[in-house]
Amino acid sequence: KFKVKQILYDIHRDAANYFHANLINSDSGRHALEYLLKRGLDEAIIKKFGLGYSFPGWDEMKSHLKSKGYSEELLEKAGLIIRGKAGSSFYDRFRDRIMFPITDVMGRVIGFGGRILREANFQPKYLNSPDTVIYNKRQNLYGLNSAKTESNKKGIIIVEGYMDVIALHQKGFTNAVASLGTSLTTEQAKLVKRYTEEVYIAYDSDTAGRSATLRGLDILNEAGLNVKVIEFPKGLDPDDFIRKNGREGFLERINNALPLMDYKIKIFKEGIDLSSPVEKGKYASKIIPHLLKLRNQVEKEGYIRKISNLLGVSEEALRGEIEKYSKKIV
Ligand code: UTP
Ligand code: MN
Ligand code: MN
Ligand code: MN
Ligand code: MN
Repeated sequence: KFKVKQILYDIHRDAANYFHANLINSDSGRHALEYLLKRGLDEAIIKKFGLGYSFPGWDEMKSHLKSKGYSEELLEKAGLIIRGKAGSSFYDRFRDRIMFPITDVMGRVIGFGGRILREANFQPKYLNSPDTVIYNKRQNLYGLNSAKTESNKKGIIIVEGYMDVIALHQKGFTNAVASLGTSLTTEQAKLVKRYTEEVYIAYDSDTAGRSATLRGLDILNEAGLNVKVIEFPKGLDPDDFIRKNGREGFLERINNALPLMDYKIKIFKEGIDLSSPVEKGKYASKIIPHLLKLRNQVEKEGYIRKISNLLGVSEEALRGEIEKYSKKIV
């Protein structure tokens, strides 16, 4: 078992080197390199993240790795090749894609993400390695290997995607990591907790990102982290935003990040007319369960004052409602 793991690490290291060479040193990878340069990446950051390119053929990576002595059985265990229909041969999982090596906290390559160069309806924009003996999606954060050294003083910024992490690192925000997709897990929250107490969620400013932010907030809070939300104009993700607004613009977003409860207070206001007593009541019943989750009593007091001011009602009225809810819950 241990030996298989070691071989899977070796396979991933060799595959990453191969994809990287395809991108940097081959004529047929030229257009892939140009794609990345056009997206604003420079050669230094491409090297730092070990980005690569998988050729369009069905088994070019397989042939290369077999020539290095790895069996098809092991390449399949690594998640890099897939068995075709009954009787036919194995083919490469990643073809004609920009390759993003995924590393563990020790910097070992344990999987890949692959992005298509031109978006098309009939295939996913990103393909990812499946879980294997060495890669468990739920227990890993993309970029943490580079982020961990600075995270202690600056906190950790959690974004959705590969390109978000890379764009932020390039602009000096080397404390960014990605949950890869929009569902943060409790395992990932615990991983963050090993390195820092302060964490920012900076998900895409779209419907999916918004609901993932609300879920992520509670998961991070329950892991005992102080969590804030970084917001962007509608439709933008961190990569889009920093390309438009630069390092200064992003710093300003960090400084204006909203603490967990302030973010909820703001989000729940949307679509509610706070001049109507009926809607004030609805707002209170929506926000109170979240108020009750706050463990720090002093913090809770502060927010009771804030919400009663927002609603223009007495603190006693709000406390009365809170009382009812806490009885229902306990
Ligand atoms: P997004 O759709 O926001 O893509 O997915 P992106 O990162 O902004 O990509 P670019 O900028 O168009 O290149 C965010 C993340 O969700 C995962 C990937 O990890 C991606 O980086 N994802 C997305 C997938 O795994 N598969 C997909 O088909 C799409
Ligand atoms: Mn998105
Ligand atoms: Mn995005
Ligand atoms: Mn996008
Ligand atoms: Mn993007």
